[in-house]
Amino acid sequence: MSKAQLVEMARKDLEHGRNGTQNQADSICKVPVENYFDHDRWQDEMAKIFHRMPLLLATTAELKEVGDYKAMEAAGIQVLITRTQSGEIKAFVNMCSHRGARLMNDGCGTAHRFTCPYHAWTFSPAGDLVAIYSADDFGEIDKQDYGLTELPSLEKAGLIWVTLDPKSTLDINLFLSGYDSLLAEFGFDTWHYEKTQRVEGPNWKIAYDGYLDYYHLPILHRETFGADIGNKANYYSWGPHTHIGRPDTSYEEFENLPDEEWPTTKMVAGVWTIFPHISIASFAGGGRSVMISQLFPGDTPETSYTNQIFLMQQAPDTEALKRDAAQQFKFLEYVVQEEDYATGIALQKNLNIGARDHVLFGKNEGGGQRFHQWVDTLLETPDEDLPKLFQTG
Ligand code: FES
Ligand SMILES: [Fe+2]
Repeated sequence: MSKAQLVEMARKDLEHGRNGTQNQADSICKVPVENYFDHDRWQDEMAKIFHRMPLLLATTAELKEVGDYKAMEAAGIQVLITRTQSGEIKAFVNMCSHRGARLMNDGCGTAHRFTCPYHAWTFSPAGDLVAIYSADDFGEIDKQDYGLTELPSLEKAGLIWVTLDPKSTLDINLFLSGYDSLLAEFGFDTWHYEKTQRVEGPNWKIAYDGYLDYYHLPILHRETFGADIGNKANYYSWGPHTHIGRPDTSYEEFENLPDEEWPTTKMVAGVWTIFPHISIASFAGGGRSVMISQLFPGDTPETSYTNQIFLMQQAPDTEALKRDAAQQFKFLEYVVQEEDYATGIALQKNLNIGARDHVLFGKNEGGGQRFHQWVDTLLETPDEDLPKLFQTG
């Protein structure tokens, strides 16, 4: 089913390639400049998007075995993700139930017990409070009431989503809108986690606009990706999530083959964005790999940071492959920091001086248009109406 959808998109990419066209939006869209810097709006985005929508916080490859964990901060919330005895994933606020200390320092590791650094209360990977230090001195409490605070989570397609609101009732499957079955075509559940590197960026939406944009590729990235890279994109959407293909005549050789024989690796090679903050792009240095760009707002509307998480289909097992992979990751850090985000940081300084009241997204920038529409819609949608949004999305 998902392979058939990949082939359907590839056939459209082929057709656009032959015609020299791309799938355009109906009209040019204006986005008010305040959307990028207004403080109240930014706080609303934090509350109604980052603290309410499921976020892709980890990959299966980062915590493969029972007892593996990942601790991290996401949009100001400290999170602990664990793989429990039964092999399933759980997510918690990374907060001790005694007086609120952070249980685990940020990073990945293996631990069958989590012991609080403050007074040594101890929790299991399933979140149960299993031991109280000097329990007789402390006094009686019902341990069952003092497990870790669980967050909704879902592991699918080798990727792990967590909703930062412990009370959220939004079904993560519903939010994914079927997109996960396409992402599953990568087979990430067996991939190798290689490394994560961090890049500092501008307002999170300025940064994210760039991931949805092929228009700039041969211009801004002419020195790195080259001036011959195409500037046309085809956008395909599932709910708020968008896959970006491109007009591509190289599919011609598969045209008369049955769907099963079309090349999955080639067909998944475009960009896969996952609302509101992820972009997955494929590379080949050191072996087949993807860069999962995981974007978070910083402490102010003007800042963001991006974790570039690198997964490889196979662990690089020779010095040459390791060197090639390392070079690839360094190159991508340079492209994003020195080209995309340097441009975004300078662009941002122009937006709030009153020179212009809007920016434009052309008919060829439909992915960005759709992203901003989803942000606007979510800011206006009360919790109880969210499921409807995704059913119809
Ligand atoms: S705050 Fe964790 S044991 Fe006291
Ligand atoms: Fe770029």
